[in-house]
Amino acid sequence: MTASAPLLQVRHLRVEFPTRRGTLLALDDVSFDIAPGEVLGVVGESGAGKSLTGAAIIGLLEPPGRIAGGEILLEGRRIDNLPADQMRRVRGRQIGAIFQDPLTSLNPLYTVGRQLVETITTHLGLSAKQARARAIELLAATGIPAPEARVDQYPHQFSGGMRQRVVIALALAADPKLIVADEPTTALDVSIQAQIIALLKRVCREQGAAVMLVTHDMGVIAETCDRVAVMYAGRVAEIGPVQEVIHRPGHPYTSGLMGSIPAMDEDRERLVQIDGAMPRLTSIPTGCAFHPRCPRAFDRCHEQRPELMKAPATQAACWLHAANVAVVQGGVA
Ligand SMILES: Nc1ncnc2c1ncn2[C@@H]1O[C@H](COP(=O)(O)OP(=O)(O)OP(=O)(O)O)[C@@H](O)[C@H]1O
Ligand code: SF4
Ligand SMILES: [Mg+2]
Repeated sequence: MTASAPLLQVRHLRVEFPTRRGTLLALDDVSFDIAPGEVLGVVGESGAGKSLTGAAIIGLLEPPGRIAGGEILLEGRRIDNLPADQMRRVRGRQIGAIFQDPLTSLNPLYTVGRQLVETITTHLGLSAKQARARAIELLAATGIPAPEARVDQYPHQFSGGMRQRVVIALALAADPKLIVADEPTTALDVSIQAQIIALLKRVCREQGAAVMLVTHDMGVIAETCDRVAVMYAGRVAEIGPVQEVIHRPGHPYTSGLMGSIPAMDEDRERLVQIDGAMPRLTSIPTGCAFHPRCPRAFDRCHEQRPELMKAPATQAACWLHAANVAVVQGGVA
């Protein structure tokens, strides 16, 4: 693999939920890459498909949800069709997961040390003694005071913020290549959210792990991510380098989203908020799913669905850039 080869490739991912009334298409042709060590932010309104994308990558889609098309490759190897036991190994060893609620990831009956040691011995083949030393090191790296004592405590003995630090330590325990973090600070006290994000970024950088960071917080995206993907109604509406997406968005929906970030400098023009709501999966409009809310919609938008295409600074699924013609395959720059 060359240095520039993607770590993760999501290609034309399609996720469906069969229901009694028919099949709901929750992710439709989602494509993006994550480079080794890169932090990719994923934003979009509630229901856009951010968590489903993360769940599909880590192999934890809840039935009846299922991958109905496309591919997910980690270091060039397909992981979307692995048997459950092999996927469990990938999940422990190569991909770490961090969810909104730290208690989802921790077993209340075991000390945090036991959970860390178990992950480390299973995946890294260290002895129990070496694994304990590494567990303490990880707790120290994630800013837990007195890690030699804390390692023998149970999850309920930690505050919410400290617990999420333990989860970050656990996600990183097997030295994974990728961390999927789905709103890792939403359940925490606002005063410590920034610290936890800064910590996540720092420890991932130190370990060389890439991150897919799902968040509603554009401020976090601006400060933390290299690139950002904007999702809308189960598709990627725009993707590009974070500063370009924020300052030179190519998709009218992104422009609207940016209206919701507090201005980062005084001169920033305030963008208009976009009225209306994202459509339900049962009523995705024809053509561009955003057209009923789009201030720039024109005839073509009602009929034809735009793929990601080259916009001035990013790739955007928007017909305003059709003049640039070259439709970008799979969202790769
Ligand atoms: N078990 C399920 N059955 C049917 N539809 C589902 C199921 N789980 C999720 N969905 C639908 O899939 C879509 C995407 O959900 P997802 O959880 O990925 O959204 P999200 O972008 O993470 O939103 P949020 O910001 O609220 O977390 C939503 O419309 C949701 O209603
Ligand atoms: S394709 Fe049309 S409706 Fe969709 S975002 Fe672009 S201009 Fe708006
Ligand atoms: Mg979600």
